[in-house]
Amino acid sequence: MTLERTFLMIKPDGVSRGLVGEIVQRIEQKGYRIAAMKMMTIGPDMARDHYAEHRTKPFFGDLVSFITSGPVVAMVIEGERAVDGIRAMMGRTEPKDSPPGTIRGDLAVNLSRNVVHGSDSQESAKREISLFFHEGEQNDNTRADHAWLYPIQKKKDR
Ligand SMILES: Nc1ncnc2c1ncn2[C@@H]1O[C@H](COP(=O)(O)OP(=O)(O)O)[C@@H](O)[C@H]1O
Ligand SMILES: [Mg+2]
Repeated sequence: MTLERTFLMIKPDGVSRGLVGEIVQRIEQKGYRIAAMKMMTIGPDMARDHYAEHRTKPFFGDLVSFITSGPVVAMVIEGERAVDGIRAMMGRTEPKDSPPGTIRGDLAVNLSRNVVHGSDSQESAKREISLFFHEGEQNDNTRADHAWLYPIQKKKDR
């Protein structure tokens, strides 16, 4: 069992709508560890970097101006298969296709105001984490319930 790190961001709509607590609660209750978290306003250069894969899309300009329009909450989340796990908790990109129980399915109605961003692969996670956080900003603490979240590893598996 290896613990994976992923990047999750509550976008300006989620922060402005007072959904930070709700989203953080879901992450904590699932059993993930928050290794880093900060509230910040992204500048245009960083926004273009973050969304570089979309630079040729027609919605790129709107995406950059929206993501820089107000504070976001950026997080590094750690857990077993956390990249896929967080994507599953988020739902689909389009809120109307996101099932109830997911963040976008429960808390959003519009594609361009879908409350959260999450890394879509381990490579994206590495890139996005290093764009938003210095190594020293990530904490290596252990959750008090770690032993209840994961089976005790036998010596030979270590
Ligand atoms: N066709 C579109 N029109 C407007 N905004 C879009 C469109 N497609 C995606 N977006 C916005 O750009 C963000 C990044 O897109 P994408 O990486 O495809 O989705 P996801 O956030 O689920 O990884 C989406 O979360 C959404 O807010
Ligand atoms: Mg994406």
